[in-house]
Amino acid sequence: MAIPVIDFSKLDGEERAKTLAQIAHCCEEWGFFQLVNHGIPEELLERVKKVAAECYKLEREENFKNSKPVKLLNELVEKKSEDKLENLDWEDVFLLSDENENEWPTKTPRFQETMKEYRYELKKLAIKVMEVMDENLGLPKGYIKKAFNGAEEEENAVFGTKVSHYPPCSHPEKLTGLRAHTDAGGVILLFQDDEVKGLQILKDGEWISVQPMKNAIVINTGDQIEVLSNGKYKSVWHRVFASTDGNRRSIASFYNPSLKATIEPAQELVEKTDKLAVDPIYPKFVFGDYMSVYTEQKFLPKEPRFQAVKAK
Ligand code: OGA
Ligand code: NI
Repeated sequence: MAIPVIDFSKLDGEERAKTLAQIAHCCEEWGFFQLVNHGIPEELLERVKKVAAECYKLEREENFKNSKPVKLLNELVEKKSEDKLENLDWEDVFLLSDENENEWPTKTPRFQETMKEYRYELKKLAIKVMEVMDENLGLPKGYIKKAFNGAEEEENAVFGTKVSHYPPCSHPEKLTGLRAHTDAGGVILLFQDDEVKGLQILKDGEWISVQPMKNAIVINTGDQIEVLSNGKYKSVWHRVFASTDGNRRSIASFYNPSLKATIEPAQELVEKTDKLAVDPIYPKFVFGDYMSVYTEQKFLPKEPRFQAVKAK
């Protein structure tokens, strides 16, 4: 089984209604789908792949070789231990945001300008995707974006980009690339490797691979979309496995609420689905409080997080 693929350009043509319906189906039944013809120039994506690979070689690889996962795995192998490494990820990762520009990699030629251009384009795409969700959920255009930006007029939502590599691993059976989790935030747009597999999602109790597709963008919805949609769009479990060959690139950009934003199910959706419910499943909370809980509990089931934040 493969995750659904959506031709995003068809939203602008005669097949708009059909495409909206396909996306609604993806959001309701899958929580993950791939976009092709998404409007991000191929030439830009090619440059992003190039600078990301160069950056890994120039500025990250050496550190990864000396990192905790590598050391712990070596120890385990030397001891000929049967144990597994449960509490770590076989991942090299760093974050790009508007706030941390002074910490972006500096040694890789054209890295900064390319990633600025990429992030500008991806943020526009994130907003378009959220507008499609507004429409499919029967909410006013811009509802999700506004909710994530908080009550004030300024733009307070957080747009971040996680640049990850999953380097080859001599004993992939002993650990995971990234442990299973759901994403805390809003909408996530993933530019994954063209060839090296690794990402899997949990669907109806089965792990399904997100098949690599050249220059596609994988979309998924985080915990805050689940709350806002009152559970109509679920935040789905996913994980990355490690493998013996290939250094898997994945660049995940996320449009998240401001830490100060108050998140709650959209009233319109509560009225439709929960008329008789006495105790709503999803509480109202401040996203910053949710993140404090998430940081502690990322790899645990999400439902207790909603409960914990409700009690605050
Ligand atoms: C994440 C994530 C998947 C990947 O960063 O939350 O799920 O393929 N990444 O790197
Ligand atoms: Ni994730």
